[in-house]
Amino acid sequence: MPPKTEDWTSFYSQMKKRSGLDLNLYKQDQLQRRILGMMDTKGAKDLDGFWKIIGTSDTEVQWFMDKLAINVSELFRNPEKWREMENIILPELLSRSNRLRCWSAGCSYGAEAHTLAAILDEKFSGQHTVMGSDIDAAALDQAKRGEFTENDIRFVPKNYQDKYFERTANGWQAKPSLKKYLTFKRGDLLADRFETGFDLIMCRNVVIYFTDAAKENLYSKFFDALKPGGILFVGSTERIFSAKELGFTTTIPFFYQKPMEGKATAWRNAS
Ligand SMILES: C[S@@+](CC[C@H](N)C(=O)[O-])C[C@H]1O[C@@H](n2cnc3c(N)ncnc32)[C@H](O)[C@@H]1O
Repeated sequence: MPPKTEDWTSFYSQMKKRSGLDLNLYKQDQLQRRILGMMDTKGAKDLDGFWKIIGTSDTEVQWFMDKLAINVSELFRNPEKWREMENIILPELLSRSNRLRCWSAGCSYGAEAHTLAAILDEKFSGQHTVMGSDIDAAALDQAKRGEFTENDIRFVPKNYQDKYFERTANGWQAKPSLKKYLTFKRGDLLADRFETGFDLIMCRNVVIYFTDAAKENLYSKFFDALKPGGILFVGSTERIFSAKELGFTTTIPFFYQKPMEGKATAWRNAS
């Protein structure tokens, strides 16, 4: 028998108490389908039995969170957007500061953060920082090691491949020259208070499982976390329909800018 509403409510509330993760903020159809799949994997007959198995140890709770996260990524994902990043967005940001503070929010195993670090080093070398955060501890461990698969590397331009990545027995490894820009830490975008003062926030392919209300709240928190003139970069299916109401301006699809007080900026004439 499928779980009843009150079974889900009780499971969510136990998970919130145990880990801080608020499952009410995820789209319910997809979420519940995935949890039912995990119950099968663990041989649990109902949600109560499932909680008895996974609620008992930090390792099991972490397993649940890792499974919940779909952490597909790759280096230079959507290459045309990275060309816009290199040719328009970064020059615009660097016209005001030569020390960019950047954040890859929902970074998975670090492909996006490594991509940005490589472009910065190659084209705009300086004392920039790129922080990656994710809810998935296993993905973050891989991000810290800078390990990538053959598939991850397919969109990396040859000159970047040669300069920043080397072949290993199992795939590819980022060279130490990228490490100086990068830090990775665990965080829940739906629960945390954010640091502020970012020039660039990238949050791509993360919000697809969030409810509309959770997305609005997240984008509003990103707006507050950006410096005036700072830019939010979202995934290629994640247009922000309420961008104007949230205070963002945009010209190039999927890049949203927090306005400089009263000033039009160069990139708005760029496309
Ligand atoms: C598909 S990956 C996106 C990786 C990268 N941004 C990209 O576009 O290639 C989505 C990531 O979002 C993370 N995620 C999901 N919910 C999250 C939350 N509440 N807080 C932080 N990260 C979350 C997942 O763990 C997963 O690694």
